Amino acid sequence: MSGICYVDGQYVAHGDAHVHMEDRGYQFSDGVYEVIAVYGGKLVDAGPHLDRLDRSMAELGITPPGSRSALEIILRETMRRNRLIHGSLYLQVTRGVARREHAYSDGMRSVLTVAPRRATPPVRSASLNGHRVISIPDIRWQRCDIKTVALLPNIMGKKQAALAGAAEAWMTDAEGMVTEGTSSNAWIVTQAGELITRQLDHGILPGITRRAIIAYARERQIKVVERAFSLDEAKQAREAFYTSATAILRPVVQIDDAKIGDGKVGPIAKALADVYFDALDNV
Ligand code: PDD
Repeated sequence: MSGICYVDGQYVAHGDAHVHMEDRGYQFSDGVYEVIAVYGGKLVDAGPHLDRLDRSMAELGITPPGSRSALEIILRETMRRNRLIHGSLYLQVTRGVARREHAYSDGMRSVLTVAPRRATPPVRSASLNGHRVISIPDIRWQRCDIKTVALLPNIMGKKQAALAGAAEAWMTDAEGMVTEGTSSNAWIVTQAGELITRQLDHGILPGITRRAIIAYARERQIKVVERAFSLDEAKQAREAFYTSATAILRPVVQIDDAKIGDGKVGPIAKALADVYFDALDNV
């Protein structure tokens, strides 16, 4: 988009937002990121997103680009300069710039970039549309809990979904268990009415939207179980949906060739999307 980005200490026009070609993010995908939704001019769940960013940097030994409060000022200033009311901020921290060597030096000066993305405000009725997902093998590495910019399997999977006319691809591990979507967390509602999403482990990203939905569901006395579920179980579920900061909650009405439930958006998906939108109005 046009607009103002933040690049390593400076606010610059989108067309001038360049990084060095020996940035390790560019050469090795040696970096981490966050996508934080902006709703009504406010950041949604900024605290948990920045906590996750801290954790991703710590796991990879990337030096934080500054203090939490400095980062918050940069995010707010990027929103202000862009008059960003609805959309998201993409923030990325790479290990930094150095002559290309696989082994990195400790304590490199990291590079922070922030880009705004404008979007029409999310509408409640979007959560009433049913989406189709395909299943694909999960060919990612074994630390998918770290939000790194190394996303080749994810983008290949999402492209495959798009070519099949589907909205998302759900990945399955060697045991046939669903891990997550290429850019979202996966959920089902069993025939017994339990809400299931995979437990947090190294196989999935600890989604911030996932966390919020679990809390909202529990507040509403919906039984939530964090456990792995198989693709077969998902195909026999009463409902299915996926969540992310930008998609919020998307009901799934078909997985591969299997119709989910009665092929319509289910009541639990609808209710949870409603609760999420109500909470957004109060951020
Ligand atoms: N992706 N799993 C994966 C692999 C993701 O990339 C994402 C988010 C999620 C959901 O996490 P959250 O609820 O914190 O957004 C789960 C972002 C939106 C992206 O890459 O654009």
